[in-house]
Amino acid sequence: MVAPSILSADFGKLAQEVEALCEAGADLIHVDVMDGHFVPNLTIGPMVVEAVAKVASVPLDIHLMVSDNPFFVELFAPLKPRYISFHYEGEHHHHRVIQQIRSHGVAPAIAINPGTPVALLEEVVQYVDMVLLMSVNPGFGGQKFIPIYEKIDQLRQLLQKRNPECRIEVDGGVNGTNASKLRRAGVDILVAGSYIFGHEDYKEAIERLR
Ligand code: DX5
Ligand code: ZN
Repeated sequence: MVAPSILSADFGKLAQEVEALCEAGADLIHVDVMDGHFVPNLTIGPMVVEAVAKVASVPLDIHLMVSDNPFFVELFAPLKPRYISFHYEGEHHHHRVIQQIRSHGVAPAIAINPGTPVALLEEVVQYVDMVLLMSVNPGFGGQKFIPIYEKIDQLRQLLQKRNPECRIEVDGGVNGTNASKLRRAGVDILVAGSYIFGHEDYKEAIERLR
């Protein structure tokens, strides 16, 4: 699946951008929520995301990059996204947040930074529906891809043992050059921001990723 990240969209015409992505074949709309604490950037809150949800014909994939996960889950879960991901590094009580997300009927996902080892997820993966492997340090679009292929391998092995149904998503620096290698490595969902928005024709960009 391809999940375009709206972080690189023209926010002055966000509704048209989201409609264009859906028409271009997006499977999910990836929404980056940043709080200015967990990452040095601040993005959008639930009012804007509600407007996005209204025009999107595919489900939302909300990626929280925040320090206070329970607070943000309560704000965004009522919008009924397909997934809410939160970062392993920013949370002490992983199972509690996973349960909180699930209690809203939303699929919980856990995200790790490029520098965080997959092995830390050993006691968590059986409770989530997706793992998001960051291939840049979170905070900004348009950064250079960090080759995390070994981590994808390790995660695949861990999931085989503990949760074979769990999906793998990769986010950061995904483009037409690394997409096929990521797919072959076992990635289910590719997030791409600047690559798609760098194309005049979003459909062509999404098809190239696929
Ligand atoms: C980065 C975000 C990504 C970002 C990806 O913190 O989580 O979703 O939008 O952008 P690109 O594809 O430009 O790296
Ligand atoms: Zn993201």
